[in-house]
Amino acid sequence: MVKILFSKDDIEKRVSEIAAQISRDFKGKDVVMVAVLRGSFVFFADLIRMLDFDFSVDFISLSSYIGTFSQGDVKKIYGLQENLSGKDVIIVEDIVDTGRTLDFLFKEFSFKNPRSLSACALLNKKCARIIDVPVKYFCFETGNDFVVGYGLDYNGLYRGLPYIAKFLGKK
Ligand code: IMP
Ligand code: MG
Repeated sequence: MVKILFSKDDIEKRVSEIAAQISRDFKGKDVVMVAVLRGSFVFFADLIRMLDFDFSVDFISLSSYIGTFSQGDVKKIYGLQENLSGKDVIIVEDIVDTGRTLDFLFKEFSFKNPRSLSACALLNKKCARIIDVPVKYFCFETGNDFVVGYGLDYNGLYRGLPYIAKFLGKK
C-alpha cells in the first residue's frame, strides 16, 4: 500500500529544472556524473538525458539499508571505473537520509583528487540527517516517511513505480 507524494509530472518538471541548473553551472567543464546504485538509476537516466553539455558517466554500488532501517555502516559493492583526477564530479543519489552514504562518498572520492565534488539528489530528507553533508541540487524535500518508487525500493520492490510514494506497509 502506498500514498503518492510526487506524481510523474511533478518529477519530470523538477528533473528538468535541476538539469537546467546543472547545465548552467557545468557547461564546458570536464564532468563525470556518478550514479549511486541501485536507487538512483531511474533518476540518473532521466537527468542525464536532459543535460545540455558533454560529460562521462560512472557507477558505484553501495548498501546500508535492510527493510526500512538504515544499518549505519555503508558497504561498497561495486566501484568506479573512471579516473576522477582533475574532473568535476557530480554524485547522483536517490535520497539523502542520515547523510552517511554521501559522507562516505565525499571522503572516498576526495582521495581521487577531483577538481570539484558536488551532490545531486532526487530527495532530501533533511529531518533525518545525522551527518551534515552539502546537497547542492535536489528535486524535493521529504519528511521522515519511508518512500518508494522511481528507483527507490522497499526490500528490492517498487523501484518501477513511475511516481514517488509513501510506503504504508504490505497489504
Ligand atoms: P543515508 O542514510 O543518507 O546514508 O541513505 C542511505 C540510502 O538509504 C539512500 O541512498 C537510499 O538508497 C536508502 N534510503 C534512505 N531513505 C530511504 C527511503 O525512504 N526509501 C528508500 N530508500 C531509502
Ligand atoms: Mg541509495
